[in-house]
Amino acid sequence: MSSDPFESVRQMLADVEQVAIADAASLESFRLEYLGSKNRIKPMFGLMGQISTDRKKEFGQLLNELKNRAEEKFEAFKEKLVNPSNAAQHIPDLSLPAINLHRGRRHPISQVMDRIVDIFTKIGFEVVEDREMEDDWNNFTALNTPDDHPARDMQDTYYLKDLPGLLLRTHTSSVQSRFMTSNTPPIRILAPGRVYRNETISSRSHCQFHQVEGLYIDKGVTMADLKQTLLFFAKEMYGPDISIRLRPSYFPFTEPSAEMDIYWGLQNETDYRITKGTGWLEILGCGMVDPAVLSNCGIDPEVYSGFAFGMGIERQAMRQFMIPDIRYFFENDLRFLQQF
Ligand code: PHE
Repeated sequence: MSSDPFESVRQMLADVEQVAIADAASLESFRLEYLGSKNRIKPMFGLMGQISTDRKKEFGQLLNELKNRAEEKFEAFKEKLVNPSNAAQHIPDLSLPAINLHRGRRHPISQVMDRIVDIFTKIGFEVVEDREMEDDWNNFTALNTPDDHPARDMQDTYYLKDLPGLLLRTHTSSVQSRFMTSNTPPIRILAPGRVYRNETISSRSHCQFHQVEGLYIDKGVTMADLKQTLLFFAKEMYGPDISIRLRPSYFPFTEPSAEMDIYWGLQNETDYRITKGTGWLEILGCGMVDPAVLSNCGIDPEVYSGFAFGMGIERQAMRQFMIPDIRYFFENDLRFLQQF
């Protein structure tokens, strides 16, 4: 290296110009030598101290030129390697038919679930998921349905033979009992998921299906909140002109309990059939959370109250997409799935 710093920098500039880069390997060694963290240019900046004040500016400009040249050269060759001038040879035959890309899509059940989840997340509900193999306590007992309770017959249960005490959850209310036990109000959750019931498989019912259940617990929650929340949901889901009605019903975990119907109409024969001639269609079960359920889950019913609701997805999807048989959802036949 020359003892004159200017001369050293000029020499290196000449080196940079002369380096021959032919392939990826020489490009990489060029990068290491001139641009890498231990490059040859860096120490040159240290020579600034030896330069007289009146020439510092000139020296700085020369160093920048060196640095820029190295970078330009690197970029130019990199571009050449990626994009060789013979690129013309790679132009595909544009007259060939396009390759058929098999694009995936959401299962119709997921589409309906996503829509319901979207509606409730807009008003502050948060999605919570949990296990499908559940214990007796969370699926039944905590929800005010002890061992000898006749309401256990409402949901025919699969018990797991080799895992005593465990069952396949019959509803996602089990997610709610788990969440209440380990969280303090205010609670505003949505539990979507797969559930199982020992039912004879037919075009209208299956031993597995999907639910979305909701739970809201806070101070001073009333039936009016429940009704407004469900009305909001129905309008978002079925259009602003939809009418709803709440019919008294029974669930062990809510008191009072209700079922919500929407007015479907009686325009044609199908409407008569699916609404049994009433024009009203049952959509979901709901009610005010029974104080006993709150106590079971460690929440003081003297301070807090809340509502819960739960709905099956398959029936809604069948109506939305005019699907005549529930079994289609689980067969995964591409001819069926590709229609959505
Ligand atoms: N868990 C009930 C079912 O599966 C639905 C429900 C949820 C009803 C919450 C009332 C309140 O049928």
